[in-house]
Amino acid sequence: MSTATNNNVTVITHPLVQHKLTLMRRKDASTNSFRRLLGELSTLMAYEVTRDMPLQDIEIETPLETMTGKVIDGKKLVLVSILRAGNGFLDGMLNVVPGARVGHIGLYRDPATLQPVEYYFKMPSEMDERDIIVVDPMLATGNSASACVDRLKKLNPRSIKFVCLLAAPEGIATMQKAHPDVPIFTAAIDRELSDHGYILPGLGDAGDRIFGTK
Ligand code: URA
Repeated sequence: MSTATNNNVTVITHPLVQHKLTLMRRKDASTNSFRRLLGELSTLMAYEVTRDMPLQDIEIETPLETMTGKVIDGKKLVLVSILRAGNGFLDGMLNVVPGARVGHIGLYRDPATLQPVEYYFKMPSEMDERDIIVVDPMLATGNSASACVDRLKKLNPRSIKFVCLLAAPEGIATMQKAHPDVPIFTAAIDRELSDHGYILPGLGDAGDRIFGTK
């Protein structure tokens, strides 16, 4: 079995996913290997997350006869990256669904109110006809994820899923309270959040590790 689902949270327990995640967590993993592993992991995770994508029948001709085959409509899928670490997930997922559209949302935390404030929002058109997969490697407090989903729901999409690499129990609780209808996919649920909002044991600052900015 490669997944375990409980309360709308699916942990992708496939050995390849778990192995690569452990390599990424190591503090001595270079930027190069961290980024490569995240790319490989997101491709593997995309495989699970897209498991229930709708199929449609089309008629094709094999060299021998006509038959009805099944295809997915990748263009109806939108990957929404929460900037900036979410971008680390995109290439790997697009390997599996190359026709998907991509949206970006940028949020920062207001130091006075500690609430997420949107600074960037760019989505494809006709979002009401699309299925959304939101990507962000770290589900920590859950405040950005929840604010992002609030915003996306205003566009009336067909469905929304949330995918991360690591989730803190606190972040899962925030999302489940605000958006119990949004399934969460993760490679691991870690122990807790630190006082500074880092996931423990975690992997550090995902954005810094992807982009080499520390
Ligand atoms: N964001 C990160 O990049 N890392 C954490 O541990 C928490 C939030």
